[in-house]
Amino acid sequence: MHKQAPNFIEAPAAAPAHHAAELAAGLLQQPACVAPKHLYDPLGCRLFEAITELPEYAATRTEAAILAAHGEDVARVLGTGLALVDLGAGNCAKAASLFPLLQPSHYVAVDIAAGFIREALSALRLRHPGLPMTGVALDFSQALALPAGLPTGPRLMFYPGSSIGNFEPAHAQRFLRQAREQSLGGALLIGVDLVKPLELLLPAYDDALGVTAAFNRNLLLNVNRQLGTDFDPADWAHLACFDAAASRIEMHLRAVRDVTVRWDGERRDFPAGATIHTENSYKYRIEQFDALLHAAGWSDTRCWTDEHQGFAVFAARG
Ligand code: AVJ
Repeated sequence: MHKQAPNFIEAPAAAPAHHAAELAAGLLQQPACVAPKHLYDPLGCRLFEAITELPEYAATRTEAAILAAHGEDVARVLGTGLALVDLGAGNCAKAASLFPLLQPSHYVAVDIAAGFIREALSALRLRHPGLPMTGVALDFSQALALPAGLPTGPRLMFYPGSSIGNFEPAHAQRFLRQAREQSLGGALLIGVDLVKPLELLLPAYDDALGVTAAFNRNLLLNVNRQLGTDFDPADWAHLACFDAAASRIEMHLRAVRDVTVRWDGERRDFPAGATIHTENSYKYRIEQFDALLHAAGWSDTRCWTDEHQGFAVFAARG
């Protein structure tokens, strides 16, 4: 009945052994760190969805409002009929809301969370039976290397939600350059969270309900599964702070008592107060991010923002 069953490509870099080695190396560093991609196991994906509904976390809502207000303008600037490559697709909802405006010829959902996009795509294809879809399970945090077998015409690279904020600025530039190469002469649509007063920034990463704390601490359960560690989330407190010089929010986990973590013949002692760095979330100024896009080789940049300049949506040509 559904001729257009979504293809699914699982990239080798998403394989478990790859993550385990990387995790062990991070845990043995001084101070310890775990990459933010490990926040997104199935429960982590759901906790992140809950974060986007929190009163304190405005980024997702503001981005949606900007796209709702300026969608026509965005589509006019970008053109229609490109293949839409959704980087970090998650539940695919943001991209799907743009289908009517952008009329993509093909939808490619890329995410590290294989199960999550698999589910999202099979639901989505019922609502858009005529649109060819491909799911790609890929960890693109080190390099954006899309697998063969995808549409080869010009692509619209879609990177919403300010996920670009997880990269160090130099790494963000490299990623944006790779995205431009992969656009095959197409375009970019990207969401960027902007610098704003601390009274707004901090609560977004330390909300009253403790959802962000749960999101951060859940990372430990994911690490237990992937590496075989024996973390007890009860031993760890959520910590969010803003580094003004680096213009980034940082998330850490702080040991509330002396903790020893063991796995696979290894161990790491964390005295009370020791931390594990789990995320950076860079906040940009509009001119700064525009310069970053140009440095990465993008041109004809356009930017839309909300009335408080809390968030920006950029379009650019490859
Ligand atoms: C998905 C990376 C954009 O940095 O705001 C939300 C993740 N971390 N709350 C962000 C996140 C804590 C989010 N990004």
